[in-house]
Amino acid sequence: STAWVSCDSAAVAAGADAVAEAIAAAGITVRRHGSRGMLWLEPLVELETEGGRVGYGNITEAEVGPLLDGALDDTDRCIGAVDDHPWMARQHRVSCARVGVIEPTDLAAYREHGGLAGLLRAIELTPEAVVAEVTASGLRGRGGAGFPAGIKWETVRTASADVKFVCCNADEGDSGTFADRMLIEGDPFTLIEGMAIAALAVGATEGFVYLRSEYPLAITTLRRAIEICYAHGILGESVLGSGRRFDLDVRVGAGAYICGEETSMLESLEGKRGEVRAKPPIPALEGLFGRPTVVNNVLTLSAVPMVLADGGEAYAALGTGRSRGTQVFQLAGNVARGGIVEADFGITLDTLVNDFGGGTASGRPVKAVQVGGPLGAYLPPSQFALPMDYEAFAEAGAMVGHGGIVVWDDTLDAAAMARFAMEFCAKESCGKCTPCRVGSIRGVEVIDRVIAAPDDGVRRTQLTLLEDLCTTMTKGSLCAMGGLTPMPVRSAIEYFPQDFGIPDDTTQ
Ligand code: NAI
Ligand code: SF4
Repeated sequence: STAWVSCDSAAVAAGADAVAEAIAAAGITVRRHGSRGMLWLEPLVELETEGGRVGYGNITEAEVGPLLDGALDDTDRCIGAVDDHPWMARQHRVSCARVGVIEPTDLAAYREHGGLAGLLRAIELTPEAVVAEVTASGLRGRGGAGFPAGIKWETVRTASADVKFVCCNADEGDSGTFADRMLIEGDPFTLIEGMAIAALAVGATEGFVYLRSEYPLAITTLRRAIEICYAHGILGESVLGSGRRFDLDVRVGAGAYICGEETSMLESLEGKRGEVRAKPPIPALEGLFGRPTVVNNVLTLSAVPMVLADGGEAYAALGTGRSRGTQVFQLAGNVARGGIVEADFGITLDTLVNDFGGGTASGRPVKAVQVGGPLGAYLPPSQFALPMDYEAFAEAGAMVGHGGIVVWDDTLDAAAMARFAMEFCAKESCGKCTPCRVGSIRGVEVIDRVIAAPDDGVRRTQLTLLEDLCTTMTKGSLCAMGGLTPMPVRSAIEYFPQDFGIPDDTTQ
């Protein structure tokens, strides 16, 4: 018989390697797949049965004996057939369809599960037709800005240059986000396939994945997958016999949050200090080494194989409003069931936080969630009916961002978090523009004065100053780092005025 144990970093951190070794020592074949994304159950052991893979959650090395003897079968440690578990059954896995199902670098299994169908179709189509499929799919940038991928690709395709590039932004720096990592660790071929399709579509011959140094397992897995692709003619001088070249390499970042901003990333890829470039020119026209460059997030590129395999219209049929397809949401922080949930756009915060997440891990009431990383808004449960939709979030003064949701219980001090937003900006600012470099430091100071205000008059004056500062940062910053830092600050004041020592009626 065969047991499956995750090799994902989160599972390994929870002790999966020792569990896998103990199972192997008992004479059982162990196969290592990515994580299903039910992170609260890791290490999750799945035993193959005639009725599918049956899961056992939170297995320790010492429990391997009882597990294999069947002693856990009738306990709540056995979650039944994993595919039928409500957490899995209620999702719509498109980009993550194979994550947690196959061994990450098993190319034969990748093909058996539909892999390479998109690339093979892209080879048959003209570059214009490939871009048209992506445009028709309505796919938008999953890094957070939500820019239509098809329009970006068309700009690169129609630009003329001696060489063009495809760069994948895998510098997943937002707190509470880990979908890029899980995809690369669990199914790296999907990303490689998406990048190869992008290259064929725009006429690029070289690609780079900019991967953060904090993800050592992802780096190893992706490099191994790239080697395998070269050995099988998927990468290199003739992509799957098409006669078209595409070379792909991994570059490892050095830990600066700002290198997740696309132009800083390009500077870093060129071997320079990660500092933001002024736009225009946009990278689609003058990107890496000044050449037309597709810069997309891991999840954007990983949606592309399905778009090509099933057609743009099939992808466009999913979602809501102008937010088409699926998003891989990430539940983190003080949440009972943390992990990844891939669902069509339109799913509400309530469903994600309460139904999937099960509320807080501490058992206390949820006070707030922060959506979209450290530059995203804090939202109280009164906003939980919000559908996951770029436009709906923007209207509510929030952002979907990269789909990370961090949960807090009622011990959250929103004023401390507002201060932290400014502090984070001060620490991570690239220093190029004044509103961000200096504004964030002044922001920490003014929030300190709001918190310490001896009376309502002083507090009002300082809040007015803070609002002015937020406006200056929003309007005057060169990039989203300084431009979006006011979002968590303003939302904290709007929804949790009492944490700033102010009665509701003094907020502006
Ligand atoms: P942006 O709106 O300036 O650009 C979005 C993308 O579209 C860029 O790749 C840009 O080059 C491209 N673009 C814009 N106009 C174009 C045109 N006419 N033709 C072709 N391409 C065009 O947004 P930006 O500054 O790239 O990203 C800001 C977003 O990043 C924020 O909204 C936030 O959600 C997100 N963010 C994500 C983080 C993460 O860790 N994933 C961290 C911080 C912010
Ligand atoms: Fe650099 Fe901040 Fe200006 Fe962005 S907003 S360019 S991070 S100083």
